[in-house]
Amino acid sequence: MAIETIPLTLPPSADASKFVDFGREVKGLNPGNFTPEEFKELEKLLYKHDALLFRDVDLSPEQQYALTKAFDPTSENYGHGNNKTGGTKKSILHPDLKTIPHVPQVQLIGNGTVYNHEGLAEAKLKHPHHKTFHKTHISDADEEKGATRFYRWHIDAALYDLNPPKVTTLYGLNVPGGPHQVCRYDDGTGDELEVPLGTTAFVSGRTMFELLPPELKSLAVRSKVKYAPHPYIWMSPSHAMPTGLGIETEGLELPLNELPAWEESKVMVLPILWKNPVTSELHFQVHPCAISELYVDPLPEGANKEGALYPDGTHITDLGAVRGLVYKMQRPAIDPKFVYPHDWREKDLVIFHNRGVLHTVVGAFTPDQVRAFHQCNLAASDRPIGPSAEDVKKWA
Ligand SMILES: [Fe+2]
Repeated sequence: MAIETIPLTLPPSADASKFVDFGREVKGLNPGNFTPEEFKELEKLLYKHDALLFRDVDLSPEQQYALTKAFDPTSENYGHGNNKTGGTKKSILHPDLKTIPHVPQVQLIGNGTVYNHEGLAEAKLKHPHHKTFHKTHISDADEEKGATRFYRWHIDAALYDLNPPKVTTLYGLNVPGGPHQVCRYDDGTGDELEVPLGTTAFVSGRTMFELLPPELKSLAVRSKVKYAPHPYIWMSPSHAMPTGLGIETEGLELPLNELPAWEESKVMVLPILWKNPVTSELHFQVHPCAISELYVDPLPEGANKEGALYPDGTHITDLGAVRGLVYKMQRPAIDPKFVYPHDWREKDLVIFHNRGVLHTVVGAFTPDQVRAFHQCNLAASDRPIGPSAEDVKKWA
């Protein structure tokens, strides 16, 4: 059977011109059992379209692990290291994950209590709620009327010691129905986005770069971000912005000497732009909550200095300044018209290019709305590739 691809159904809020290449539904391929030739085609499709959807899939945790590993055959451990349920209690990710005992690379995530699930007698799950993370909150009255927020825009990555996973697979086993909610930005713009209950929202890192004016493209192509050591523990006392796109600068991060033991050699310094292995395009890939410093290279020889930011290069260590610059570059791409909020159905499998998109949990469930998903990603065998010398010449 030939592999067939169908464009995803976009919400009325979406600017279709920015989604020409983004996302495809795939038919004619069993993601639990495929030939090497089929996989080659699948891999190309993923890097070209950044998110692939399969409907009505039956997929065991073993099959999901095998599928995820196929994109990076020498990777073995979950993106944050295996068995996250046991240790690192202080990390803000701890309450969101339950490890599947017989396939520790696959995590159970969702909401409500799940019984006798893949060797877990009773798993209490909690859909992350913005009240536990954002500085300001939606009032209970507004929440009852269906107002909600983006929880946290991110890349799936430990961002310390372990390389960012290439892909994430998300498989919906139990998807509670309910009315749409309205995701509010609450940043003074009045922006809001109607979303299906419990959507996963995606934006393209390629679009994020494309939208930038020339001086910020030049800055992005010359910049590297330094992430905090143990970033999810470091940020644990702090609060996020109302858009979920980074942290408010209140000085609440844990001091570096209060973190678990860490070494400089494991701290991640990564380019802002990551090169797509199939299209060679550049994706703006920064996890805004975890950033701590910015390194900017000088303009290459012969480049026009007029209007350029930091033409001689710089190293910015002021946390507020780093966050401000990155926010300015990322915020345009989460405009409602550039967001794809996936409308989950039971037995949906989504594979996304974790080095090419940002995503976030959205919405709020009541405790009786039981949601169960399997998620898998693997700490990669290599680092993302940054811009080439030609890219710098072209955009700087
Ligand atoms: Fe995620």
